[in-house]
Amino acid sequence: MQNTETKRSCLAVILAAGESTRMKSSMSKVLHPIGNKPMIAHVVDALATAGIDDVALVLGRDAEKVATAAKNPSINVSTYIQKERLGTANAALAAREAIASGYDDVLVIFGDTPLITDGPLNAAREKLRAGNDVVVIGFMAQDPSGYGRLIVENGELVAIREHKDATEAERAIAYCNGGLMAINGRRALEWLDKIGNDNVKGEYYLTDLVEIVRSEGGKAIAVEAPEEELTGCNTRAELAFIERLWQERKRLELMLDGVSMIAPETVFLSFDTQIGRDVTIEPNVVFGPGVIVESGAVVHAFSHLEGAIVRSGASVGPYARLRPGADLGAGSKVGNFCEVKQASIGEGAKVNHLTYIGDAFIGARSNIGAGTITCNYDGINKHITRIGEDAFIGSNSALVAPVEIGNGAYVASGSVVTVNVPDDAVAFGRARQENKEGRARLIRERSLAIKAAKKKAAE
Ligand code: UD1
Ligand code: CA
Repeated sequence: MQNTETKRSCLAVILAAGESTRMKSSMSKVLHPIGNKPMIAHVVDALATAGIDDVALVLGRDAEKVATAAKNPSINVSTYIQKERLGTANAALAAREAIASGYDDVLVIFGDTPLITDGPLNAAREKLRAGNDVVVIGFMAQDPSGYGRLIVENGELVAIREHKDATEAERAIAYCNGGLMAINGRRALEWLDKIGNDNVKGEYYLTDLVEIVRSEGGKAIAVEAPEEELTGCNTRAELAFIERLWQERKRLELMLDGVSMIAPETVFLSFDTQIGRDVTIEPNVVFGPGVIVESGAVVHAFSHLEGAIVRSGASVGPYARLRPGADLGAGSKVGNFCEVKQASIGEGAKVNHLTYIGDAFIGARSNIGAGTITCNYDGINKHITRIGEDAFIGSNSALVAPVEIGNGAYVASGSVVTVNVPDDAVAFGRARQENKEGRARLIRERSLAIKAAKKKAAE
């Protein structure tokens, strides 16, 4: 079907000025992360995906930090300050100037519902276009306490009753206000200005808009969306619940894209985690921000990755830690109890056991023995270790940076390497071994004799 109607203009007003009292936090709740990204940024992302033109962000507590966290290259965000916390309608009116500039659709959305996607946003606008004046996105809550209840009669939304103002009968309603409201933009300001504060909390409730619009002959309806998208965050417990839902969503997305997870419920992802096809993620793996895993790689159990790239066919863990700047070449291996930071591991190179590699370059096919440590820090500065291709570093070696080990070079086990090793050379950086023939027997016999003498003296 061809859409002949010209595109309707849309302003989204995000309310994020609240005190976040129930979070008991030193920062605004919308700065708390979900999938390692501030809650507010998730909301802005959903608006950008929905192709909304402009965002008016209403700020109060931590205004500057929230504004920074909300920056998004694909949508125009302007900021407004709500001077006093007088309620959600008062907050929306802080963006008066933006609303007054004239839009077909005005969406009011809360900064504390980070799981929202473009689906309900588009659905709400669709219903405005169909001739409604207010469209509220609702959901069936498993536990409705705390939410505003949607009172629907004959298919029309009659009112929204805040939990604290609701009667017993109204509290029994499970259909709740998801905090997303689409308003006829041509009249939004006029209606918002009519909202009063005659309620239990003495606040200006955005939700009163429904009754005001109806009293002026306008039409209000509710549209149901999945609870999963509308869960609000007021407490730390809800924060954890939202994180869980977000993780489930991201895992599913990756699995549907061809990633195998043996126990997905134990794998923790970040907003920007990228994992290619045919990658297997074993149980209990944590992905901090900035990780890319290319196709065919395996991340074994109990590994922690952050700011790292794992190239095709590489193997990580079990029990590996990849820190920012770790770059594992194709087919390389970083095994158990190894830590890699700001270092590239060449194609096919192996760092298999109990090792720290930091500020280093390791050439293709080199083998780094168990217990090797790059001593990269002298207490003041960090220094670089360069290891060529096809080199072999014997177990329990300390490579004191800055230092270079050439192509095809060997480092004898237990060495402390402080001087560069040329290509194809062997470096012995340890004391030479001496064997004293028969000395062990002498020591043993002397000890036994002393012990016997003492025993006799005691009798
Ligand atoms: C609100 C709704 C409730 C709905 C629920 C959905 C109202 C009156 N109630 O309740 O119907 O079911 O969300 O999650 O709208 N804010 C401001 N300035 C203020 C007050 C709030 O900017 O003066 C912001 C907050 O930062 C927050 C959002 O508005 O992002 C919602 O405020 P909150 O106090 O969390 O409202 P709820 O009690 O959850
Ligand atoms: Ca809330």
